[in-house]
Amino acid sequence: MCGIVCYIGKQEATPILMEGLKRLEYRGYDSAGIAVSDGDETFLVKEVGKVRNLEEKVQALSPHGTMGIAHTRWATHGRPTVENAHPQTGETEKIFLVHNGIIENYRFLKDDLEEKGHTFKSQTDTEVLVHLIEEYYDGDLEKAVKEALGLVQGTFGIALFHRDNPDKIVLARRGSPLILGIGENEFLAASDVNALIRYTNKVVHLNDNELAVLNHTNYHITDFQDRKVTREMETIEWDQGAAEKKGFEHFMLKEIFEQPECVKNALRGRIVEGEGVPRLGGLEGVLDRLKSIEKVHFVSCGTSYYAGLLARYIFEKLTDLSVEVEYASEFRYRNLRIDERTAILAISQSGETADTLAAVREARRKGALCLGLVNVVGSTISKETDAGVYNHAGPEIGVASTKVFLSQCVVLTLMALLIGRYQRLSLTDGLLVTRALKELPDHINKVLKQADYIQDIARQYAKYNDFLFIGRLYNFPIAMEGALKLKEISYVHAEGYAAGEMKHGPISLIEPNFPTVAILPRDSTYSKMISNIQQIKARDGHVIAVAVEGDDHIQSHVDHVISVPHTIDIIQPLINTIPLQLFAYYIAKERGCSIDKPRNLAKSVTVE
Ligand code: AGP
Ligand code: GLU
Repeated sequence: MCGIVCYIGKQEATPILMEGLKRLEYRGYDSAGIAVSDGDETFLVKEVGKVRNLEEKVQALSPHGTMGIAHTRWATHGRPTVENAHPQTGETEKIFLVHNGIIENYRFLKDDLEEKGHTFKSQTDTEVLVHLIEEYYDGDLEKAVKEALGLVQGTFGIALFHRDNPDKIVLARRGSPLILGIGENEFLAASDVNALIRYTNKVVHLNDNELAVLNHTNYHITDFQDRKVTREMETIEWDQGAAEKKGFEHFMLKEIFEQPECVKNALRGRIVEGEGVPRLGGLEGVLDRLKSIEKVHFVSCGTSYYAGLLARYIFEKLTDLSVEVEYASEFRYRNLRIDERTAILAISQSGETADTLAAVREARRKGALCLGLVNVVGSTISKETDAGVYNHAGPEIGVASTKVFLSQCVVLTLMALLIGRYQRLSLTDGLLVTRALKELPDHINKVLKQADYIQDIARQYAKYNDFLFIGRLYNFPIAMEGALKLKEISYVHAEGYAAGEMKHGPISLIEPNFPTVAILPRDSTYSKMISNIQQIKARDGHVIAVAVEGDDHIQSHVDHVISVPHTIDIIQPLINTIPLQLFAYYIAKERGCSIDKPRNLAKSVTVE
């Protein structure tokens, strides 16, 4: 959830840590802190709020030294205060520790430590861990860490050092990501490659139940049983500029505008010309097993869940598979019938979402084929699944997902096509889909050109506090996603509904202050959608329609129309989602919200 960054080497650590924190801030941002050591003195600086608040304090104190650890927090235990910010220290204030995750048995451990005379300064679960390590420390920090972690239940990615031995940083993980960055006589570590990529593109992923030690000249990894771990370095391909705003006011806007490129990246090298069938290298090893699969469960959360909801309709259209879509957080607690003829597909931008990861582990236990659709290369879900496909959408920094959602929809369509073409789907139908996918970037560009027009509509609606989003069939999940975007970044109450459900409840909400966004492509649901709109207008509700170009009929029924290019039914929702992203963005902008880092949210949700 939070961001961790560490540095040890020849350079001044503070600027590197601060730069890293800024790049990680989208992961959590209610407070931040750094601890830097120059060998003699250790400087600890913490502040509530955004990293720029910490920066002011850091500038005043100018901590110096060539090693340090830093953290941007997403509070789980204790309010965002300076005391609760990390790094946390123990009784003797000699150990400095940053933590991502939750120590589930912290209460039990805390009571025990209090009985032994420890006093606590913060309300965090993290501080308990520092005291526990301190309790075991007899000069050997790695040993103390391993012993303490042996008693801990929960998830953690931690980095720490001891004031008396400031030549090394110890890292350990279980459930929260940590990646080592290998430079020349300098080493970094972070929860996300974004913080490393400016200094090195050589990385080593730490796995669960492993511990790493970084010092000024080398590093080593062991497991918690002290066995040496040898792991090859990987070279990261993301270009650094991808994580910068490139002249856009917000990352979210930049990412919305990157979507034509994202679609091309998701399709690149994956369409076999003239055969109406895709090539998905990541699934080749399991193709035979895939052919015997009868049922697929899509498991995911939030926006990735809506990509799964849409994909269910697409799979139903193109394949014979039976598809279930489940929130990952529910899936793992259900008594589902899962066997070797079942596959689960974990859909996750970050590849680190704790609920989704837990669902993968549960499905594996029950014998399912575990597949992943992940954007972050080398992330935990990508490693824990049997096979999978990457989005190749580049880093998504805005907390509200836009380009990766679209990319997920594209790749899921490719997956359905791949399976469908091995089943009953004809070459002609396959070619229709691949042609529509290839046309998608141009269609999206046409919608993006209407950004000013959509901003103008958003201005007129920015004062409303409630919205309804409706759609049918393929566009029902898009209505849900449109509502989620709006609530995430503008804090406006919005409900996404299957339009047919309106009369069964939400219609009672309709009045002049409760506008509706209706998605109505020219498909089999069109006339029913028109009826829904009329029911809203009869109750003095305002309606903004997303309709296809050339639909001259719609204008007379609604207050505003956003026209989008027309394509085949299953691809139309991918175009329709773009104006809803822009609408949410401009409403949030009009309301002065923190668009890239909405309150209470974090990019990567590594707690359950
Ligand atoms: C997206 O706008 C949200 N921030 C959130 O719903 C997100 O989609 C969800 O937490 C799942 O994340 P993942 O794709 O990284 O697993
Ligand atoms: N559980 C810890 C806390 O509340 C860490 C939270 C985080 O991952 O930022 O301080």
